[in-house]
Amino acid sequence: MTITRTDMKEDLAAEIRRLARAKNAVILAHNYQMPEVQEIADHVGDSLGLSLDARKTSASLIVFCGVHFMAESARILNPQKKVLLPNLAAGCSLADSITAESLAEWKERYPEHTVVTYINSTAEVKAMSDICCTSANAVSVVRSLAADRILFTPDRNLGRWVAKQLPGKDVVIYDGCCPAHDVLRGANAAKVRDSKKGAIVIAHPECREDIIEMADAVCSTSGMINAVERFPEARTFVIATENGILHQLRKRYPDREFILADGCIGCRLNCPYMKCIGLEDVERSLREEVFEVNVGAEILAGARRALERMLAVHRDR
Ligand code: 13P
Repeated sequence: MTITRTDMKEDLAAEIRRLARAKNAVILAHNYQMPEVQEIADHVGDSLGLSLDARKTSASLIVFCGVHFMAESARILNPQKKVLLPNLAAGCSLADSITAESLAEWKERYPEHTVVTYINSTAEVKAMSDICCTSANAVSVVRSLAADRILFTPDRNLGRWVAKQLPGKDVVIYDGCCPAHDVLRGANAAKVRDSKKGAIVIAHPECREDIIEMADAVCSTSGMINAVERFPEARTFVIATENGILHQLRKRYPDREFILADGCIGCRLNCPYMKCIGLEDVERSLREEVFEVNVGAEILAGARRALERMLAVHRDR
């Protein structure tokens, strides 16, 4: 009998589910994870949804299939739980684009500004911020603030998108970006869109302004998946975000066509960090309980305040 790759994957997936049950673990996966990882997860979602899942879980162990800042946020929001990141190489260039030192400098330059920090940041940077946001709630978070002077960090594209929708606010924007989104240009996306009659463009707000301007909908990753329903007549969708999202889109809407906006089967719209975690890593993570994500007490308290303040905006609405 020949053992195929599919058999091996199925065996690993079954072992992961067995270990998760035995250890009372919950497996969370971001929408950009590899399809086989999304398939073994208890919840697949965007940063906001997964933060809420992590915060309310009664499981003893959280295995976070995403990148480091996501696992760290889970730990901050539910500090009694053990949080595991299956591969420590899963970082984030955007989170790395701002340090505590660079934020301190910007805060000195803009002492009167309220600091709004995207969740794609380290715990240290969150702890120095007034409030956090995700792509799903950035506009409502900034709108909810009494302050009119905002320092938005670290994503410049998300910052511009927020500023454009809230012209009453004076938004100073830090100069970070996500390379997997920032690489995309309007000319490429327009070519892809124009090759399919009636195609709808759905974009993530980490994309540059030219993409945002041509988009029919701009949302978080889970928002992008839900947005397809707003266009019942459309057959083809041009997707401006990381290629991992195609798995949920194709699973949920098998009768629609989804094309990545880079026109090259997602070769540019690829986050190497989001593809660090394979089934072998998840199995090892559960079996050996590695790699635990920890945050020092003082930083945890500061970052938690900024994250909880963000979550309160939803509760207050
Ligand atoms: P979402 O919160 O929209 O899933 O975004 C996460 C992210 O890191 C985008 O690059």
